[in-house]
Amino acid sequence: MLQQNIKHIGVIGTGVIGTSWATYFLSKGFEVTASDPAPGAEKSLRAAIAANDPTLPLNLLHFESDPEKAVRDVQFVQENGPERLAFKQELFKRLDACTDPSVLLISSSSGITPSEFQSHAKYPARILLGHPFNPPHLIPLVEVCGGKATSEEAIQQTLAFYTAIGKKPIRLNKEMKGHVANRLQAALWQEAFYLVQQGVASPEDVDLAISQGPGLRWALLGPFLNLYLSGGPGGIKHFLEHVGPSIQTWLNDLGKIEINDELIVLLSKNIDGMLEGKDISKIAEDRNRVLLALMNMKDKAENLP
Ligand SMILES: NC(=O)c1ccc[n+]([C@@H]2O[C@H](COP(=O)([O-])OP(=O)(O)OC[C@H]3O[C@@H](n4cnc5c(N)ncnc54)[C@H](O)[C@@H]3O)[C@@H](O)[C@H]2O)c1
Repeated sequence: MLQQNIKHIGVIGTGVIGTSWATYFLSKGFEVTASDPAPGAEKSLRAAIAANDPTLPLNLLHFESDPEKAVRDVQFVQENGPERLAFKQELFKRLDACTDPSVLLISSSSGITPSEFQSHAKYPARILLGHPFNPPHLIPLVEVCGGKATSEEAIQQTLAFYTAIGKKPIRLNKEMKGHVANRLQAALWQEAFYLVQQGVASPEDVDLAISQGPGLRWALLGPFLNLYLSGGPGGIKHFLEHVGPSIQTWLNDLGKIEINDELIVLLSKNIDGMLEGKDISKIAEDRNRVLLALMNMKDKAENLP
């Protein structure tokens, strides 16, 4: 029987993602014990949470540098340590050995599959993936996926828990490198890099092609429902029958790209140029402010997913 009653959460690793998860869990009223061995980690964590949400009381936040002590009284663990297979296998082995088998042990990993990081544990049925999007205190999506040894009960409880606290979890029925959302992003990045490399458009215009074009719709509906609407009364069937042959020729023509030194220099030079005279922290502030307003509006639009 896994946990039904989650009150206290262990957040292991308090870098970019762990800090943001801790902010979110505290904002939902959970007690949080965080852990990170880096010198000064507790001070940085408290400062970063206060910066994320200055109204948040920090009396429910505890800190232990030792992860085993941090998970002593928790019912749910969100792991956000370094993205290295051997590290995660060893950490999950330790967390598994020092927690009751009813405690859900979740990793935020972007690229390591749950079958890999659960493989050294004695009770792997409660070990699975809960991959967030940066920053998790703002972006609702979490990708949930079990490994070979994860129980269906643990997957269902994790989906139910994230839903209950206001996240929008999706379930992956199969483990796949990069999960779902990053694979979709990678497909887009590949073509964005290619278009710049080929001199078809500047990085600034490629960005505008998304942020002032399809990106506006994608924040509201995904590719399938947007395609359905593009098909008029005939929906996606009509759209694909009508425009599909043309799309096939674009698909056949898409670029292949290699992320090598040459590409990194080309993109960073161009994008540094594009940012000249602009304050990136102000851009991030505006992005986060507008994002929150948009999400508030979405919450009130009952026909949007
Ligand atoms: N950055 C992103 O956009 C993003 C998005 C989704 C998921 N993730 C995943 O989240 C995880 C963390 O990524 P990040 O970007 O926050 O990395 P990060 O480098 O910012 O943070 C990693 C933290 O782990 C700490 N750490 C090192 N050894 C540790 C140990 N033994 N126990 C506990 N903590 C330890 C480090 O001190 C550091 O603070 C990774 O698995 C990554 O794939 C990252």
